[in-house]
Amino acid sequence: MSNKITIAIDGFSSTGKSTVAKRIAKELGYVFVDSGAMYRAVTHFAIEKDFISAKNFNKKGLISQLDGVELGFKFNNDLGFAEMYLNGSNVEKKIRTMEVSSFVSQVATIPEVREQLVKQQQQMGEDKGVVMDGRDIGTVVFPEAELKIFMIASAEAKAERRYKELIERGDKVEYEEVLNNVKQRDHIDSTREDSPLLKAKDAIEIDSSNLTLEETFQSVMQLVRMTLEDSE
Ligand code: DC
Repeated sequence: MSNKITIAIDGFSSTGKSTVAKRIAKELGYVFVDSGAMYRAVTHFAIEKDFISAKNFNKKGLISQLDGVELGFKFNNDLGFAEMYLNGSNVEKKIRTMEVSSFVSQVATIPEVREQLVKQQQQMGEDKGVVMDGRDIGTVVFPEAELKIFMIASAEAKAERRYKELIERGDKVEYEEVLNNVKQRDHIDSTREDSPLLKAKDAIEIDSSNLTLEETFQSVMQLVRMTLEDSE
């Protein structure tokens, strides 16, 4: 298995995309990129600079300062994956809060933000050997990816997964709040004008509602093996 491919994993919020992408990358020795973390980091920046709150959304202000947003991933050996850095600071924990989750889909509608992030994502995948998860990876970032997965799950399965994650981190959240956030984000992500969440024509759909993480991982690995054989 010496030939490297590009693996795009798109789909709805909290379908297990990142967890599976991370494991696939580890198994293959590929680079894992959580593109959602990049949108979350820009959102964290926007909150800190007061460009977005429950009362206002100053898109122009945010766009004018995008040059001051420097994003990077640094591999953490203890965790076994790369953490998100914003202007030199580790923001991995800060970008996973409900506050960031509640604004990120709005920030992700801004074409200028998308253009900047897509460019960086394409650079990260230049040499192939990358597993990237997100919403537009198979359609916009890597339309030529050899393997495209599209993950779906029921709203309840998604909310339960996300709720468990937040509770395990020690966040105080209500299940209903998480369910509403997941539904709202999926709606905004699928209906926005620029690069909406769409299943690429050549993507393979996986419904993770009734699958364990191990089962989802095994299904994707089987597709990876087939794709690698085909690309030899
Ligand atoms: O994968 P995630 O839930 O951490 O992503 C957070 C948000 O970022 C998601 O609601 C929509 C946006 N996003 C996007 O628009 N395009 C991507 N490629 C990845 C994420």
